Amino acid sequence: MAETMKGLKRSHRCTEVSSSLAGQKVTVMGWVQKSRNKGGIIFVDLRDRSGILQIIFEETKCGSECFEKASKLRSEFVVAIEGTVELRAGAVNKNLATGDIEVIASSLRILSEAETPPFPIEENSKTKEEIRLKYRYLDLRRPDLQRNLMLRSKVATIARQFMADEGFLEIETPMLCKSTPEGARDYLVPSRVHPGEFYALPQSPQLFKQLLMCSGYDRYFQIARCFRDEDLRADRQPEFTQMDMELSFVDIDDVIDVNERLLAKLFKEVLDVDVELPIKRMTWQEGMDRFGSDKPDLRFGMELHDISDVVKDCGFGVFTNAIAAGGSVRGINAEGQGSLPRKKIDALVEYAKTYGAKGLAYIAIGEDGSLKSSFAKFMTEDEMSNIVAAMEGKPGDLLLFVSDKNKVVWDTLGALRCHLAEQMGLLDKNVFKFVWITEFPLLEWSDELGRYQAMHHPFTMPMEEDLQYIDSDPGRVRAKAYDIVLNGNEIGGGSVRIHQDDIQEKMFECLGFTKEQAYERFGFLLDAFKYGVPPHAGLAYGLDRLAMLMAKQDSIRDVIAFPKIKDASCLLTDAPSPVDDIQLKELGILVEKDQKEEEQ
Ligand code: AMO
Ligand code: AMP
Repeated sequence: MAETMKGLKRSHRCTEVSSSLAGQKVTVMGWVQKSRNKGGIIFVDLRDRSGILQIIFEETKCGSECFEKASKLRSEFVVAIEGTVELRAGAVNKNLATGDIEVIASSLRILSEAETPPFPIEENSKTKEEIRLKYRYLDLRRPDLQRNLMLRSKVATIARQFMADEGFLEIETPMLCKSTPEGARDYLVPSRVHPGEFYALPQSPQLFKQLLMCSGYDRYFQIARCFRDEDLRADRQPEFTQMDMELSFVDIDDVIDVNERLLAKLFKEVLDVDVELPIKRMTWQEGMDRFGSDKPDLRFGMELHDISDVVKDCGFGVFTNAIAAGGSVRGINAEGQGSLPRKKIDALVEYAKTYGAKGLAYIAIGEDGSLKSSFAKFMTEDEMSNIVAAMEGKPGDLLLFVSDKNKVVWDTLGALRCHLAEQMGLLDKNVFKFVWITEFPLLEWSDELGRYQAMHHPFTMPMEEDLQYIDSDPGRVRAKAYDIVLNGNEIGGGSVRIHQDDIQEKMFECLGFTKEQAYERFGFLLDAFKYGVPPHAGLAYGLDRLAMLMAKQDSIRDVIAFPKIKDASCLLTDAPSPVDDIQLKELGILVEKDQKEEEQ
């Protein structure tokens, strides 16, 4: 029979018990990490979210009944123990925060017994993630996950306090919203009261926070859950959390200023890391040209070199055709990788192809300066040495090239650069390199839709000096948008918003909406703007991504208590799941039969 808490109160968490309490009585509670019976003495490692404390049961000190009970303890039993703190007589355990003390138990209550868990509750678990996610409540007992979630909580607490101190008001916005598809796919919620009609879960609080600016709240903040039905990756979940803000009467520098101070405070207080302010700023164009990415990882070099000029008249059609078609030939220098075996180079070629490249040309420079290359036969010796010079190639280096449309070249080399850096061990998780990316293109052409799409969202202000091109050359217009990037991850993004109806209308026109379509979707915002709207701007962080990097993890799943897997299902609860026909009927929903059968 499980015992109760009656008359007991926890006095300390495990690692709050320290040598300064020697000789005093404490009451601690938690889970049995392990228990070893050495005859007349039982050692129990007691675990709670703070860490581990060693408890000793000696028959002479706790009495035979208590000792008998202690001998039944097994891993993961939940217990309450009273005892006296003593300095360790034996060797101090330097691996434990409480390694210089132990608690000599005087009483024990077994609050709950436990079956043997399906995997050991230990740091750096080797158990497959699917099993851990199925038993997530056990996985969450592991010290590494507990540390991650505690860190995340600290980040949220400090951010909240900072924002409040800066005059931001925390205001909640609805979860049941109007569907305004633009960007990711919406999660829809059927309405019972209005059969055939649907709410959408918010992809972000964007429109509401702009309305709050119209209503005069001038500085808004929210830690908001967002929903996007998009393909999952290590840094993407269907539901995720934004630290979201909006400010009135400001321009880019004001938003950047408050956010730099927020980041500096978070990193100092959570990790004792000094963020150098001001954070470096880089235009989108520079990011693409130098790193092939709008979220460059600045922890290492391996920058892109444009060799189009060097090879534009060479005999290699792959290069010259791409240049003639308006593309380019660019390369990266993987320093010291010149002796990479052929098989590994082939793997890089395959990797490059997943980013749309048709191939990956290379020059491997031997230690003696000799060149091995996949395209030497098309080149003169002079051309080869000009390429090597343009790439700053040295003996022992590996030069890798892609020729194609600029977008393919950037995407491929940008990804390859990070892939190689990982293989070369250049990615130190203890180094934090921030950069603001600015001057994004306002619009990006979608071949699929046959029209332009907003690169950030349709409410983003064009740069004043580029407004003149909005009719003649919309692709050339840059936006007053900014992303904050950390170690190659976009941890946040935002923009100055359009607050003038003529510019907003123009923007909708560029996106291919008629006036009626724009009104049908966003009429409430356009109407609100008619009644006096302050200039405003804002930004949202992906809290999961920020916490992931601060916790030095590789996936946001490691900083989310109950994450979903790749197909957006939850292994713990089995969501999503079929529902009763009665529920469907009430909602006026008919599920196609074959679809239903497929599910089952
Ligand atoms: P954006 O779409 O850039 O901007 O989102 C802001 C930040 O949210 C994070 N993020 C995600 N994190 C986990 N899983 C996802 N599926 C996911 N999608 C985005 C990223 C991103 O930088 N309303 C605007 C912000 C604004 O303009 O103020 C917005 O939502 O870290
Ligand atoms: P091929 O003549 O097709 O055998 O190509 C010679 C080399 O050029 C091979 O290493 C290919 O991987 C590479 N290659 C082919 N297409 C491209 C491209 N678009 N960009 C860079 N290298 C390419």
